[in-house]
Amino acid sequence: MDKGKLPLHVGVIMDGNGRWAKKRLMPRKLGHKYGMDRMIGLAEHAKKSGIKYLTVYVMSTENLARRPEDEIEGLFGLIRKYFTVNVKKLFDCGSGIKIIGDISVLPKDVIKILEDAEKASPEKAEFTLVFAINYGGRREIINAVNKALLRGGSVDENSFEALLYTGGVPDPDLIIRTGGEMRLSNFLTYQSAYAELYFSDVLFPDFSDAEFDKALTDFAARERRFGRA
Ligand code: IPE
Ligand code: IPE
Ligand code: MG
Repeated sequence: MDKGKLPLHVGVIMDGNGRWAKKRLMPRKLGHKYGMDRMIGLAEHAKKSGIKYLTVYVMSTENLARRPEDEIEGLFGLIRKYFTVNVKKLFDCGSGIKIIGDISVLPKDVIKILEDAEKASPEKAEFTLVFAINYGGRREIINAVNKALLRGGSVDENSFEALLYTGGVPDPDLIIRTGGEMRLSNFLTYQSAYAELYFSDVLFPDFSDAEFDKALTDFAARERRFGRA
């Protein structure tokens, strides 16, 4: 593919794990496990493709507040496991990680795992996995507004963007949602203003590298005008 038509930053709303498991008469938890495997696979594939940032929506503020405790605990269990093994492997290949979301309310050991991973992340990575956990676009904006108020004075787009969880990360060029729903569910609310959107019916655990490439091909054919005539 023409490298000029490759998105710098892709966001993925990894939806459909529960339905994927249900179709196989498995508990939802297992759907999340297969989803996590696929996420690691996609991160490796995105990196090889030359994408610089991949943001994965792992858990929304609404998921944490509204899903049964055992499902949430299952997700934390997966994070504990995947961060110590698979994510570490990503680092060994020179990749970085950035956490976005309100992690302060997560279990203490999970906070430590996430913070340690971020600290161990190389300063100048050729690929960064942005991990959105207990993330909500609205909460992110409110959080940034409060920071701005504490600081005093007014903000412009540049100074405000630096106060978002994603400070320093360019806006997503392409947002992919798997699982058939056509909504953003509080994902990158501020940053998605000019993102190209791509919706796939494929449930996330089945969203293969080839399906991801289809989204890239679709993106490459779009004309982005940013308001120009
Ligand atoms: C997405 O899959 C993963 C999370 C929200 C944690 P879902 O769990 O929402 O799966 P469906 O949409 O119920 O199939
Ligand atoms: C969005 O999926 C959140 C993640 C994929 C982490 P949901 O399944 O929570 O979204 P809704 O509830 O269908 O909008
Ligand atoms: Mg869902």
